[in-house]
Amino acid sequence: MPVALITGCSSGFGEALALAFVERGYRVIATMRKPAAAPPSLKALAAAKPDDFVLAALDVTDAEMRKGIIDFAVQRFGSLDLLINNAGVGARGSFEDTPESQWRTMFETNLFGPLDLVRLALPVMRRQGAGRILNVTSVAAVLKTPLMAAYCASKHALDTATAALDIETRSFGVRVLCVMPGPFKTSLPQKSLDRQASAPYARIAAHFNATFDGMEAKAPSDLTPVVNAALAAATDADPVLRYTAGTDVVPILPPILQALAPLQAIGLRLTGQD
Ligand SMILES: NC(=O)c1ccc[n+]([C@@H]2O[C@H](COP(=O)([O-])OP(=O)(O)OC[C@H]3O[C@@H](n4cnc5c(N)ncnc54)[C@H](OP(=O)(O)O)[C@@H]3O)[C@@H](O)[C@H]2O)c1
Repeated sequence: MPVALITGCSSGFGEALALAFVERGYRVIATMRKPAAAPPSLKALAAAKPDDFVLAALDVTDAEMRKGIIDFAVQRFGSLDLLINNAGVGARGSFEDTPESQWRTMFETNLFGPLDLVRLALPVMRRQGAGRILNVTSVAAVLKTPLMAAYCASKHALDTATAALDIETRSFGVRVLCVMPGPFKTSLPQKSLDRQASAPYARIAAHFNATFDGMEAKAPSDLTPVVNAALAAATDADPVLRYTAGTDVVPILPPILQALAPLQAIGLRLTGQD
């Protein structure tokens, strides 16, 4: 049975992905900051299938925990076939109202933590001659959204790093791919590191917050498209770089993604791969 390690399983996509990959026949290590507070669905699964489903602690910003969880996966199950970097944090707030420390938190969580997990997983997957890494990005990786500069920048960087890594690693049988969701109802807004707008930004914040609130209110709560995108990315014999889900709310996205595709082909040609 293939072994999957998923981050950020305490709610939202992570919880849904953990359930779906067990259902698909994976052994799953579902990680989160506080496993004691895991959702009831995952606690029940851990009790029912202790050989196939494990809850484990991981704060993706903690270097020791990152190393420990990869070692744990290999020791416990003997392989690591799939890593899903799903954990992430959002934030709304003007650039001026956002301290640098918050940019750093955002990048540690959405970029550096996930990339270090990739760094730790790659030797295992290279030795196996196979493996898949899915980085959960966002439409925000491509669309530049005011009051979300840090979030967009972190996801843009993750998207770009993923595209480059996928070219580097594919000759080892390892693929590094993006799952790129549009808006869905999860706990993201409640856990978001929002900043109060100072007086100069009150007007623009009121305008954009109303737009975002409207979009979030209309967002679907059925997470199946994201789960299906991740299942396809994990199992397609000839995968594509970006698996989108629920992006139809952003009609300008498909032509942008189409325009980005040739860059991947150029990278492949530079390495002499097709
Ligand atoms: N929902 C959307 O509309 C949407 C759209 C595009 C992309 N995304 C992306 O999808 C991913 C999952 O988000 P979601 O929508 O499912 O939101 P969510 O319900 O808030 O889930 C985010 C998860 O990330 C975890 N997390 C945050 N910081 C962490 C850290 N330092 N270490 C470990 N885990 C941490 C949270 O854990 P705690 O409970 O400990 O905070 C939570 O389990 C994120 O990367 C997000 O950016 C979401």
